[in-house]
Amino acid sequence: MVRRISPIARAALFALLFTPWPAPLLAQTYQSAAVCATCHIEIHRTWQGSQHATAFTDPAFRLPYDRLRRDNPRKTFTCEQCHNPMRFLLAQDDPRAAVFSREGVTCDFCHSVSSVDARGPFPRYRMKPGVRYGPRPEHSGKGPHVTKSSRLHITSEFCAGCHEFRNEHGVAILSTTSEWEKSFYRGTGVHCQFCHLPELFDARFIDGKKKKGPIDHAMVGGRSRERLARAIPIRTRLVLAGKEVRVVVSVKNELVGHATPTGIPTHRLRLAATLFDAAGNALGRREETFERVVGDGTGKALTRPEEIFVSAREVLKDTRLQPKETREVRFSFPAGKEAPATASVALTYEIPTPDTAPTLRYIEIPVANQVVTAEAGWARGKAVVFAAAAILAFLAWLLFRKAAKNRA
Ligand code: HEC
Ligand code: HEC
Ligand code: HEC
Ligand code: HEC
Ligand code: HEC
Repeated sequence: MVRRISPIARAALFALLFTPWPAPLLAQTYQSAAVCATCHIEIHRTWQGSQHATAFTDPAFRLPYDRLRRDNPRKTFTCEQCHNPMRFLLAQDDPRAAVFSREGVTCDFCHSVSSVDARGPFPRYRMKPGVRYGPRPEHSGKGPHVTKSSRLHITSEFCAGCHEFRNEHGVAILSTTSEWEKSFYRGTGVHCQFCHLPELFDARFIDGKKKKGPIDHAMVGGRSRERLARAIPIRTRLVLAGKEVRVVVSVKNELVGHATPTGIPTHRLRLAATLFDAAGNALGRREETFERVVGDGTGKALTRPEEIFVSAREVLKDTRLQPKETREVRFSFPAGKEAPATASVALTYEIPTPDTAPTLRYIEIPVANQVVTAEAGWARGKAVVFAAAAILAFLAWLLFRKAAKNRA
């Protein structure tokens, strides 16, 4: 009697022969990240520090969530679809539920996904427990567990099930995926993974072939100062125009694959310009924010995350920078008695702290700082005048010569 060995049996055999991990990894069920950590050490380390790992536990989520649970408990069901997704995959009385809640968006959630209906009703993800889907065809069938390669895992569609959300009033609360879809990145095949899941080590083998090393799962966004500085450059000019002093700043969304800021409409970018005289006294200060603000339907802005998700009925303002957009911001100051000497410009990424009392406070991440001196502004102005005068003189000389020749 000849029977084909099923992939699971084959993997079990492999596991029994070659690894100390026969049982848990081959059961058709989900495992804790702690199990994966024994082999995928680097990946686990980077994931552990990510917002995904703390999606259900970190205070920034927990405080709004607990307020909602107190005031409107039926609505918390939606939050958990993305912040505690394992809950819906386990039986009600499963003792592992508590373990998985502490792991937020865990390894076996993402790696058991077989398909997604990114804009459909919840649950949007279809799962195959016991199968670990990964990006690399050459690893299909390898490892002590059942491993399958999946094209879905290297596309934006995969992230979209959680990174795109309209509330029941039809207001887009999370639109990162559709912002990306409208951008040039989609056309050029640059998916979320290209920027958010880079290789950890760029190791090369002796034969020159590039090894595909483990992938960084930290998935950092606006919390990384270095990333922000590279992605959103600024250029400042100080222009003296008669009765007015203008600080002109061009801010470019150079390398962000979607609007910036994206995601939950509580994060914002703030651009501030301060004008100083030669003695260092501030002569004036102006500000501009790039943000999306949603309202309750009567024009009142909502700032608490739980209200934003549940009660937003309108978009009051959207001044975010779209992919590749350059925005020129002009701050004008009246030219006073004191001549301006320098202008200092700062771009800051701001994330509200979890507490909301008595007013909102922000964690401030510096993105860019520039100081320009008025001399540069004056000098440029002078240079332009000088060049214009020189050209005029040359033209006059030409005319004069021509007239002289004609006379001769
Ligand atoms: C006993 C060691 C071990 C444990 C524990 C383990 N894996 Fe693996 N895993 C491997 C090996 C070996 C491979 C084959 C690819 C390789 O050599 O990197 C692999 C491959 C994978 C792949 C496919 C990678 C690709 O390149 O496409 C995924 C996804 C994966 N594992 C996820 C997990 C998850 C999730 C867990 C925890 C539930 C886990 N693994 C636990 C050893 C392990
Ligand atoms: C199961 C749902 C889920 C999936 C799938 C998912 N995410 Fe997330 N992601 C979240 C949640 C929830 C947060 C916010 C966690 C928090 O701050 O409480 C988050 C946060 C992030 C952040 C950090 C945001 C910040 O404020 O710093 C980045 C970057 C990110 N995700 C990228 C991705 C990418 C890229 C993918 C696809 C490869 C992906 N996510 C797939 C749910 C998900
Ligand atoms: C938010 C979803 C998400 C979570 C959570 C997640 N992964 Fe991944 N993982 C991915 C995606 C997407 C890729 C493919 C990235 C690519 O190739 O561009 C990937 C790639 C991998 C790979 C193959 C690449 C490699 O480095 O060998 C392994 C193995 C892996 N993940 C294991 C894990 C483990 C272990 C954990 C938990 C500690 C984990 N993942 C958590 C989405 C996730
Ligand atoms: C071309 C590179 C690039 C691509 C493609 C890209 N991102 Fe980003 N992403 C960034 C950069 C840079 C930042 C940091 C700046 C910011 O937060 O605006 C960021 C920030 C984020 C954040 C954090 C927002 C916050 O509030 O802090 C999330 C979440 C995110 N991206 C998700 C995604 C998802 C989902 C996709 C795919 C649909 C994607 N990104 C595609 C570069 C990219
Ligand atoms: C469709 C999936 C989804 C749903 C539903 C969802 N969230 Fe989120 N949530 C996310 C993602 C993704 C982020 C990361 C946003 C970003 O920065 O781009 C996030 C971020 C947050 C943050 C900011 C956390 C931080 O670290 O700054 C809070 C607070 C939050 N969500 C609360 C809630 C509450 C409360 C609910 C339920 C009313 C909810 N979310 C429903 C996906 C979701």
